[in-house]
Amino acid sequence: MTKLALWKDDYLVGVDKIDQQHKILFEMLGDLLTLREDVGSIDERVAKLSSLVERLNNYAVYHFRTEEFLINRYLANDITIVGHEDAHKSYANSMQDFEGRFQAGDANVVNDLIDFIYNWWLGHIMRVDKALGKALNQAGVR
Ligand SMILES: [Fe+2]
Repeated sequence: MTKLALWKDDYLVGVDKIDQQHKILFEMLGDLLTLREDVGSIDERVAKLSSLVERLNNYAVYHFRTEEFLINRYLANDITIVGHEDAHKSYANSMQDFEGRFQAGDANVVNDLIDFIYNWWLGHIMRVDKALGKALNQAGVR
């Protein structure tokens, strides 16, 4: 299967460490989107999806910690950054909802999960992380 290269420099937020991690996340998102076209049996697709999502979400935990560390370190008093950690938590909560749908045998869950994860990251980076990058830049972090 061809590898999807989804990363665009439009997604840069201007802080090196965050951008490097986002690039790695986008590689995993590319792998995830190729699963949309996968024609294997539902069991095969679920198995592939589960291992990929687990890898991605483990990396997400590490990545969220990196951002939250930078927020606490440099932006603890910046009122414009309120809610960033909540956005990370809401991602984790959504993953739990999907887990419930898997358990219930929901037939649409594979494609819904793929779409959700891709759209969440894109939206989060373009809105919330861009604002974070700007504030960190203003605090002298590149
Ligand atoms: Fe974030």
